[in-house]
Amino acid sequence: MSEMAVLPRSKVCGQRRPDTISHELICTARALFADDKGLLAMDESNHTCNERFAALGIPQTVEARRAYRELIVTTPSLGDCISGVILYDETIHQEKDDGTPFVKVITDGGIIPGIKVDTGAMNMAGYPGEKITEGLDGLRDRLKEYFEMGARFAKWRAVIAIGDGIPSQGCIEANAQALARYAALCQEAGLVPVVEPEVLMEGEHTLGRCCEVTEKVLRTVFDRLYKQRVMLEGMILKPNMVLPGLACPKHATVQCLLRAVPAAVPAIAFLSGGQSGEMASARLNAMNARFKLRLPWALAFSFARAIQQPALEIWRGEKANLLPAQRALYHRARCNRAARRGAYDAAMETNGSECNSSGGLPAKSCVSTV
Ligand code: 13P
Repeated sequence: MSEMAVLPRSKVCGQRRPDTISHELICTARALFADDKGLLAMDESNHTCNERFAALGIPQTVEARRAYRELIVTTPSLGDCISGVILYDETIHQEKDDGTPFVKVITDGGIIPGIKVDTGAMNMAGYPGEKITEGLDGLRDRLKEYFEMGARFAKWRAVIAIGDGIPSQGCIEANAQALARYAALCQEAGLVPVVEPEVLMEGEHTLGRCCEVTEKVLRTVFDRLYKQRVMLEGMILKPNMVLPGLACPKHATVQCLLRAVPAAVPAIAFLSGGQSGEMASARLNAMNARFKLRLPWALAFSFARAIQQPALEIWRGEKANLLPAQRALYHRARCNRAARRGAYDAAMETNGSECNSSGGLPAKSCVSTV
């Protein structure tokens, strides 16, 4: 008998939402992490996308952004490795140059469309150097509209900086509360919330400090999710890896997550946070190779830069570079799928072959502390 049949949906975590919605949420969350696939975040705001284009001399126009997003969603066989893509409001309304809506291209490719619904991290009044993510106003109506357009999951990113005297309790609590309110509204609308409290990698902090802050943030987030009656089985956590600084390969991610993330959460999908594509794959691989069979949740990926960046650098806005750019995108997606099985190896970067998944060895650049 399946677990679904055992748990009366309305009783899961004492929720009061219709059984059918709870069932759909659980099914979507599971589908997003089936077959060792993961998420591709392509939800950069226009501002962020333009910044990345500017760095490579690509025109910062609606058409260039559309063409780039078309490159991504038409990458052949992307659905072999990617189960869901996170879109931005501009992108979910866009079409291929032959007029086919992106949402149709995505779903025809066996991929579930998702949507970023926060409206960005703003300076937090009274808290210099800290941010609060906005977007709750009108969210219920926007979620309904996105659901009707085909989205089945959503994303909201909170940003926590580490520095002198920060993060403050006030900043952590305000962001956790907003994440929980967003997640509850998503579940009401039938969208799986991807809850993203990102502790930033920027700074000179140590591994210990990152671990301490991440644990505190996650504990606060799960407290608020509980108070807002969010069904943990129908959500996804998208955290940072627990790292000391960009250059150091050590991390303490699993230890930290075990302390703070309830076992009812089906999957944890990491953001890449500015790590190189190879480093992000290697670290995800190291965690899965060592712990996969002993963890309550799937350890997966929801990378933007660590999947997209090599492709963007090859494309540079030139039609002639489309196919090599798509190959590079597919390659990173495939490396990360292998990393979910503990089967990624640095050799994949040159010869494309995975190591034996049953004996998945951490890639060379991986480390003992995971
Ligand atoms: P990166 O993987 O580039 O950190 O982006 C993930 C994301 O969705 C940030 O919100």
